[in-house]
Amino acid sequence: MTEKTILRALRGEVLPTPPIWMMRQAGRYLPEYRATRAHAGDFLSLCYNSELAAEVTLQPIRRYGFDAAILFADILLLPQALGAKLWFENGEGPRLSTLTTPAELAALRGRDDIHDTLAPIYETVKILARELPRETTLIGFAGAPWTVASYMIAGRGTPDQAPAHALKAADRATFSGLIDVIADATVEYLSCQVQAGAEVVKLFDSWAGSLKGQDFTDFAVKPAAKIIAALKARHPSLPIIAFPREAGDGYIGFAQATGADCVAIDNSVSPEWAAEKVQLTGCVQGNLSPEHMVTGGEALMRETRRVVDAFAKGPHIFNLGHGITPDANPDNVTRMIEAVRGA
Ligand code: CP3
Repeated sequence: MTEKTILRALRGEVLPTPPIWMMRQAGRYLPEYRATRAHAGDFLSLCYNSELAAEVTLQPIRRYGFDAAILFADILLLPQALGAKLWFENGEGPRLSTLTTPAELAALRGRDDIHDTLAPIYETVKILARELPRETTLIGFAGAPWTVASYMIAGRGTPDQAPAHALKAADRATFSGLIDVIADATVEYLSCQVQAGAEVVKLFDSWAGSLKGQDFTDFAVKPAAKIIAALKARHPSLPIIAFPREAGDGYIGFAQATGADCVAIDNSVSPEWAAEKVQLTGCVQGNLSPEHMVTGGEALMRETRRVVDAFAKGPHIFNLGHGITPDANPDNVTRMIEAVRGA
């Protein structure tokens, strides 16, 4: 069997048609997802129910035939495994116990004590490794330390990550200590996903854009480089995708600085810019705006072709620039895939 298309792109091959998957492809825009989630009870129960989590991971593969499946879980399960309290307020998003003091940092569990909580996630990966079509790549993931820390410090999502920036300014030791604890635990978590059958892993740094100057180097680049080096030492052929969302110029050289095999690009930069500045040095993933999955029409077809054409000269994995939203029309996903594959 020839190697899976996503793995070929991640090794730098330029394919006539880019492989495709979609951030949040298992999600509320799909009626079958909403039904399984209702059956599970709530979002966290779904994450920790290996059979049902595998089922929702498979739903978009059956419906659309994407080239990759991403493990169904959440970046906030790791803080929970470290000892943070985690719950989801309906319609509002995640809530966690806050962490702002040295004592609260010291009370977290160590990196070797996370696996009791996370065992069901590894089981989901094992089921998927067995059940996915042979041509589909299985992607595992975790949040990057800065993004995860921003939720742990504030106890919720924040538009500007102000509480995390404030702790960084007021108590650098506690802040850096938290980044290190998350980075070390992330290596163990992702390594277990790989042992269970994940073929690629992706690091989501959704809030990297609010780190400026030296902070971007210290808290987006360096932790990613450390995690990637540790993972590659254990799993030398493991391809890794990094997503420093809204990094802007920070995308340039990010793959070299961190050792990532691919940089995922959000839709705040143009595909032409990213092709010229970022793809020159390796595989990129992205970057159609998710709003086209809501609005559809001519613009969807035109912008999809634009992304494909802009990245056609180098290794490329087609994706959205961020997750598909709950108000998206599932038929627009079909049209996007047809436009990418030239059907
Ligand atoms: O992409 C996928 O399909 C894989 C599963 C996945 C989820 N979350 C499922 C999810 C992945 C990779 C994530 C990553 C994640 N989670 C990120 C980084 C990527 C990004 O979107 O920037 C972040 C910041 C989180 C934290 C999180 N989880 C938030 C802020 C929210 C609430 C916002 C929302 O969309 O409701 C979640 C909930 C969540 N995670 C849902 C899903 C499918 C929706 C939950 C539901 O069914 O109600």
